[in-house]
Amino acid sequence: MRKNIVAGNWKMNKTIEEGVQLVKEIKSLISEKQISSVQLIINPPFTHLSVLKNEIANSVIKIGAQNCSYESSGAYTGEVSVGMLKSIDIDYVIIGHSERRAYFNETDEILLKKLNLVLESGLLPIFCCGEVLSQRDAGIHFEVVRQQIENTIFKLSEDKFKKVVIAYEPVWAIGTGRTATSEQAQEIHKYIRNLITEKFGSTVASEISILYGGSCNAQNAKELFQNPDVDGGLIGGASLKAADFVQIASSF
Ligand code: 13P
Repeated sequence: MRKNIVAGNWKMNKTIEEGVQLVKEIKSLISEKQISSVQLIINPPFTHLSVLKNEIANSVIKIGAQNCSYESSGAYTGEVSVGMLKSIDIDYVIIGHSERRAYFNETDEILLKKLNLVLESGLLPIFCCGEVLSQRDAGIHFEVVRQQIENTIFKLSEDKFKKVVIAYEPVWAIGTGRTATSEQAQEIHKYIRNLITEKFGSTVASEISILYGGSCNAQNAKELFQNPDVDGGLIGGASLKAADFVQIASSF
């Protein structure tokens, strides 16, 4: 059975002190609600990873980075390598978030390099895809997502591909308060799963977790997650409040 996952993408928010406080609150709320059917992941900024890795020890929460370098080491000022992330024993790395694609010019070619480095080091990628509003309005969102996937995760070997978590994040829904409807989410998640079936077969397709991201919150998570092809969420704003994040995680 594939995993239900709720992952928080903190983006560039929270000091270390605030982050520790947030994790403490999440841990105490989880123990009250006894969440068991979902994998919880937090993705804080790089600077917080070591400290928060200790903070989540002995809890059900896993931890990931929001990005990594596409090179493995060397003269790349300001970059953080997968080997460095591996050395602090984190679990996941978000790859290809639309903000990285838009503001840091990350191309499919760069993302494929990152995916290979992450998987070869034994970490797990959360790979993001999704169309912008003009592409949705033009009715080419299926095509856009297909190309994003074909140029990246479909170029991985089957053994590597099987370890990828996919997050469908329509860019028009990120931070806008405008969520995809439950039907829109299911439609494109099913489309993605069908693409995987065509490429790697139905067994692989049935094992891959496909998360929804974009203004997912404590109010709409249940309706989104009830869909057969929506296996959880990649949560931005609402992951910064412990009660909302845990409520979302209880929405299966
Ligand atoms: P919001 O939940 O703030 O819309 O952000 C979604 C997102 O980008 C998660 O990666």
